[in-house]
Formats: sequence, C-alpha cells, structure tokens
Amino acid sequence: MNTNAVIYQDLDRILVTREQIAAAVKELGEKLTEKFRGEEPIFVCILKGASVFFTDLIREIDVPLTTDFMVVSSYGSSTKSTGVVKIVKDLDKPVVGKHVVIVEDIVDSGMTLHYLKKVFANREAASVSIVTLLDKPARRRVDLKVDYSCFNIPDAFVVGYGLDFDEKYRNLPDIGVLHPRIYSDAEK
Ligand code: IMP
Ligand code: MG
Repeated sequence: MNTNAVIYQDLDRILVTREQIAAAVKELGEKLTEKFRGEEPIFVCILKGASVFFTDLIREIDVPLTTDFMVVSSYGSSTKSTGVVKIVKDLDKPVVGKHVVIVEDIVDSGMTLHYLKKVFANREAASVSIVTLLDKPARRRVDLKVDYSCFNIPDAFVVGYGLDFDEKYRNLPDIGVLHPRIYSDAEK
C-alpha cells in the first residue's frame, strides 16, 4: 500500500515507517531468541491491537514457542480508566510453570499490563515478560517494568500496524499520528 492510499489521508504525519518497524521487529526477535534459548515460552497476543506486530514478531524468533490469545477491555471510558481490566476472552491453556511473554501494541497509562502481570503471577507462571511495539512513557500512571519496547513515542494518538481508532486504520502498514480533525468529527 503506498502512502497516497485513501486511508493515509486521515493522518497528520507518519511517525514510524514500515521499514523501521521491520528492522526493529527483527532485532527484537533476535534478542528474544537469545533470552529464551532452551525454553519453550508461551507468547500471548493481546487482541486486537497487537495482532499485526505479534504475527511478524513470532516469525523472527528461533525457539519452539507456543501462542495463545487474549481479549481484554478496560472498564470505564478511555479517559477515565479505573485500572480494572475485564478479560473478554481468556487463554486456552494454563500457564503454570511456563515462561509467559505478553505482547502488546502500546503501553499508555500502563494499567492494562499492570493488571495482566498480576493475573499471570497469580496463575503461577514461571516468569512474565512484557513486550510492546510502542511505549508512551509520558502517560504512565502506574509503575510498570516494560522488558522490551521497540519505539518510545511522544504523547500523540497513533494508528496503523494493528492500532485503531474506532476499529479503523489497523491495516495501515506504517504507524502514523491521526489527524485531530478525525476525533473532533467523531465527537460531533
Ligand atoms: P493502558 O496502557 O492500560 O493505558 O492501555 C493501553 C491500550 O490503550 C493499548 O493496548 C491500546 O489499545 C490503547 N491505546 C493507547 N494509546 C493508543 C494510541 O495512541 N492509539 C491506539 N490505541 C491506543
Ligand atoms: Mg491494546
């Protein structure tokens, strides 16, 4: 898809290109291969945002991993998150004694992952690591250790490569800042 495509018209600017993403995903895959050599970790994809990142990332990892998928949603509106996360679809298999790697699209307040980390610790996972494509450190509201992040980004609303606004733009191959006129139109 070229950057003149119809859905690119709603972007203010491109923040991370597909080439930058591919290079970062490859490098992260190499690091995770080193870290989990000799192990059989479970890679958990947090749907739907992390789906595109997840499918690219696991193909860059050379250890015999398994995959599982979770759908979560935050209680309350996006601006007033309570930090309580509802598990809409849980994992298919138990994680007891397993090395769990949670794969997220973006860490914002950090509340979703803070909660999920506790969930997996309570389920007696051997370890819980957090991997994210994007991190907005300026927005953090809880103390959260992010083990691997590909890009730190400024406090702007971004879409593409799996990330959405109102379920759209997930199919953009690059990551861009959504033009503010799109939210103001949506609020009308
Ligand atoms: P938090 O870290 O618990 O605040 O929540 C992170 C979640 O909010 C992510 O998994 C995304 O679904 C969503 N989110 C946060 N910032 C953005 C953004 O800039 N674009 C799209 N989704 C976002
Ligand atoms: Mg998400």
